[in-house]
Parts: sequence; C-alpha cells; structure tokens
Amino acid sequence: MAESRQSIHGEWSSGMVFVLAATGSAVGLGNIWRFPYLVGENGGGAFVIVYLACILLVGLPIMMAEVMIGRRGKRSPINALKTVAREEGLSSQWKLLGWLGVLAGFLILSFYSVVGGWALYYALQALLNNFSGIEPTAASGMFGSLVGSPSLVLLWHTLFMIILVVIVAAGVRKGLQRAVTILMPLLFMILLVMVVYGMTTGGFGTALGFMFSPNFGDLTGASVLAALGQAFFTLSLGMGAIMVYGAYLPRTESIPVATGWIVGMDTLTAIIAGLAIFPVVFAVGMEPGAGPGLVFETLPVVFGGIPFGFILGLLFFVLLTVAAVTSGISLLEPAVAYVTEATAMSRAGATSAIAAAIWLLGIAAGLSLNAWADIRIIPGMDENIFGVLEFISNDIMLPLGGLLIALFAAWFMRLESVTDELGLDVASTGFRVWLLTTRFVAPAAVILVFLNALGLF
Ligand code: TRP
Repeated sequence: MAESRQSIHGEWSSGMVFVLAATGSAVGLGNIWRFPYLVGENGGGAFVIVYLACILLVGLPIMMAEVMIGRRGKRSPINALKTVAREEGLSSQWKLLGWLGVLAGFLILSFYSVVGGWALYYALQALLNNFSGIEPTAASGMFGSLVGSPSLVLLWHTLFMIILVVIVAAGVRKGLQRAVTILMPLLFMILLVMVVYGMTTGGFGTALGFMFSPNFGDLTGASVLAALGQAFFTLSLGMGAIMVYGAYLPRTESIPVATGWIVGMDTLTAIIAGLAIFPVVFAVGMEPGAGPGLVFETLPVVFGGIPFGFILGLLFFVLLTVAAVTSGISLLEPAVAYVTEATAMSRAGATSAIAAAIWLLGIAAGLSLNAWADIRIIPGMDENIFGVLEFISNDIMLPLGGLLIALFAAWFMRLESVTDELGLDVASTGFRVWLLTTRFVAPAAVILVFLNALGLF
C-alpha cells in the first residue's frame, strides 16, 4: 500500500533536491517584499516575536504533517488526501481540503504575479541605470508611477505569468535545481552586502531596536493574525504546495531533518531582508509603515548610492524575480498535478489553462491599485481587491487549511502510520513534541487567533 505506491509525476533524485525545491518554494516575495512591509506596518519587534513563535510552534509541525501526507499519498493534494483518508478508514471527503488549497493557490498567485511583475520591472529599471544617485522621494515616485499605471502593472503581470508558464510547462526539475543551488545563495549574498551597507548608514541601531525590541502594547489582534498568516505564507503552508513536493520525496529521506532545513533557511532570509531594508528606512527618514511599496522604495536608494550598485541592483532584482518564479511554480503545482491526474490534458495544456484563469483574476488585483482603487468588494472592509485577495487567502484560507491538515495528521490518522512515515519512534522525544504541537498547540493557536480577530474574546 503506502510503501509501494509510486508517484506518477516522478521523484526527486534525493532528499537534498527536495529541500532545495521546497526552499525555492518558501523563499520568495514573502520574505523580501511581504515580511519587511508587515513588520513595518505592525510596529516591529512584537510582531517579529509573534511571527517567530508561529513559525516554530505552528509552521514547523504543520510542514512535517504536510510532507508526511504528501509522501504517503504520492499524488496531488486532492488525491493524496483522498487516498490516505481511505487507507486510514476515514471519509474520502477529506479531499475537499485539497480543493481548498487549490483555490487558495489561485487567489495567492493572482496577486503574487502582480508583485512578481514589479520585480521584473525593477530589473529593467536597474538595467537602464535608473537608480543611479536616486533620492528617496524620487524612489517613491518611481514606485508610485509604476503602480499608478494600469497598463504598466498589467504588462508586467502578464510577462511574469508567461515566464512562469513556460518554466512549469517545460517540467521544472532541472531549472528549479539550478535556480535554487546557485541563484538563491547569490540572492542571499547580495542581501548580506546590503546589510553591511546598512551598518554604515547610521540607521542600523534604530533598525535593530525596531525589529527586535518588542513593545507588546502595540500588538493588536489584527497584527497577531497577520503574523500567523505570514508564517503560513512564507513557508508555503496550508494549501498543499509543500504536500505536493512531499509526494515526490523518496521514502528513504527523513522528514524532520528536511523540514528543519527549509524552515531555518526561510526564516533566516526574512530576517536578513529586514536587516537590509530597515536601516535605510530609518537613515533616510522614511515611514516603516509605508506598506507594500516598502522594499521597492528603499532598495533603489541603496543601489543608487553604493559602489557596484549598478550590477548589484540588476542582479538583485533579477534574482528576486527568480525567487518569485520558484515560489510561483509551487503555487501552480497542486492544481497542475491534479488536472493531469484527473483529465487527459498534457502538463503544458493544464498549466496554460490554469495560469490563464489566474492571470484574469490578477488583472483585477492589478487594476485595484489604480483604475479600480475605489472599488470595495467586501462590505465593511476598507481594502481594495488586491488587499482583499491577500487577506482572504493568507490570513483566512492558509491558517484554516493548516488547521485541518494538523487535525487530519495528529487526530485522525493512525499513529502507526504517522510514526512510520516520519521515521520516528512513538516513544521518542521528537515524536512527542511533534504530536503535542500538532495536536494541541498549532490548532489552538489558529483557533484562538481567529476568534480574537473576529472580536469574540
Ligand atoms: N512562500 C512563498 C513566498 O514566501 C510564496 C508561496 C509559494 C506560497 N507557494 C506557496 C504561499 C503556497 C502559500 C502557499 O514568497
């Protein structure tokens, strides 16, 4: 049964490749674009601490659960959940959880592609040497004129989506491996160079204080929900992306070790991104709560003022685009895997059809930043379509998906199946910690944060 099942989509050649692919999924715009702007909007240190606690107590155990279910089912999340549920004597309706994930992936990729388009646009600006000597106000102006222009936003959103489709349709293994082994470490190194630059700006101390000395009085229910949502978003959890990567993981590899690496590298990248951005924010007197434009308004100032800034800036935005693509792949993969399992469609056909639908939704997300800025689709919620998509997918659907995954793995599956798949002994400390966090801590955290955000306590 589970032991002999084969993935029809192929397998990673080793555990290392899985770690790299999953890290490629995890490290993306979430770390470099979203994390810093959320820290800024939610007042700094206290948000960072809650975020780190969510990563460790909710994210890590749920990531182990996702990989475990994926590897046991060896199919797209929808079919993996169905197969494993049946085998465990449970209702095959657990597959609906897979559908929730596919839907979340749709919503996320629609706005993700818009931001991926910004990264591409900035790569072009770097190439045209448009950052040279740029002042903070001009950098804000550059971002403003991009997002304020419907045609620019849609053009770059479209280009990003085309790049993504070409890569996913071609089959991702080789390209993904190269991207993650060479390009991601390079992106990380450029971030480190910027941290070093940050130390020379005079804003570094302020930035450290802002990011790491918590003032819990600032923390609202909404920011705790945002921290939880970001923990899911940055680790690619709650929608089956990591589950589908787990489906291609050979049975010989250790899930706890692999997930430990992924979570560690993702978290480190986010923190380093914060340390690259906030010194500049404070040194030039920008507003940390500037919102989604934060990284795009600060980093050009850095590149415009440092030696080798031209080449560093160009590399940075090209690599940020690559990081966004390797993440985008995993947002598409659960749906693509399912459609190729369930229909006669080819991989390329499935990818194009799904991406076309997401691209359409992305148009609404993109226009909501300019032409449709005043449209409100949820009564009583003062957010444009982009904000609504971000909120519903990241802050509601991912934690909800994660909650159900945790319940499935730790309450509904037989413990023998779980220990067998995780490669842990029932009596081992590692397993007990996993069981405790996945049974109680993670579900309780998600439920409490939800109730609190609803104003119920
Ligand atoms: N984790 C990615 C980032 O930080 C985004 C992402 C990729 C994602 N796949 C996902 C988020 C699946 C949620 C679910 O940029």
